[in-house]
Amino acid sequence: MTAMHVVPRKVQVRMPAKINISLKVGPPRADGFHDLATIFHAVSLYDIVTVTERPAGSGISLACDSPGVPEDATNLAWRAAERMAVEAGRAPDVAIAIDKGIPTAGGMAGGSADCAGTLLAINELWQLGLGRDRLMELGAELGSDVPFCVAGGTALGTGRGELLTPVLARGEYHWVIATADGGLSTPRVFAQLDAMRPTAPAPVVSEVVMSALRSADARALGRALENDLQAPALALKPALKHTLDAGIEAGALGALVSGSGPTCVFLARDREHALDLQIALTASGLAADVTRAYGPVRPAFV
Ligand code: C5P
Repeated sequence: MTAMHVVPRKVQVRMPAKINISLKVGPPRADGFHDLATIFHAVSLYDIVTVTERPAGSGISLACDSPGVPEDATNLAWRAAERMAVEAGRAPDVAIAIDKGIPTAGGMAGGSADCAGTLLAINELWQLGLGRDRLMELGAELGSDVPFCVAGGTALGTGRGELLTPVLARGEYHWVIATADGGLSTPRVFAQLDAMRPTAPAPVVSEVVMSALRSADARALGRALENDLQAPALALKPALKHTLDAGIEAGALGALVSGSGPTCVFLARDREHALDLQIALTASGLAADVTRAYGPVRPAFV
């Protein structure tokens, strides 16, 4: 009789980064968060999240190929596995492996993407059959950006970012993405905004951005890019201003700090223009790394 060889089952998902094409931030709330009106847009920079079954009773393990990413219960992906185990009423015996393509602590929701990827992968691995809406609810318990990371595409986020409404977005947009050395802490950037701006109106979504997306007008979109967290991010990392200026001088349709930074994004006319901008920004020597991406994209099983 031949020995039975049990191959561990595994599921792999490709999770996009997000940028905020428009990010309006209201005053601080009683719970410490801020109400937002933001347009999320998922772009083709990916983390690969692989979740593999482990023997009963062995618990969760987590490994990431990028230094500086926690490999313990402080990682949102680990917490996603714990939350799915509660949902399924079983033990969280899984190995999570994260292959990083999204800048860490860069304002592109890399941690939230890994969290969302773990929710999606475990739903498949354990054949739970949870719908996207339930996965997004679970994601909202774990982080403000996680529901969007489950969905991908382009969407309006309100509340603390977790309440999503689809946005009619036509066309494909080409971006150049410049990373910076060292990350920025999201709570610190929000706190800096509050310090710089003691009062703030309730956030309202940008109609100009919505209209540019509806008509696939990259030029209008480039002019309308906006981020209330940009000023505090620049206050904490003044060198980013040179990176933004270099992109505009090189002909970008618009330039923006991504989320809470320090990654900067630049909108190009098309794919070729993005390549030109990438070369110019690389030559400027101002960024740690310069890459290209397009959007909108969605998470996908590999
Ligand atoms: O929800 P998440 O864990 O991603 O948020 C990280 C931190 O960013 C929060 O603890 C809070 O300081 C800040 N934040 C905020 N308002 C939001 C989202 C995040 O103040 N809408």
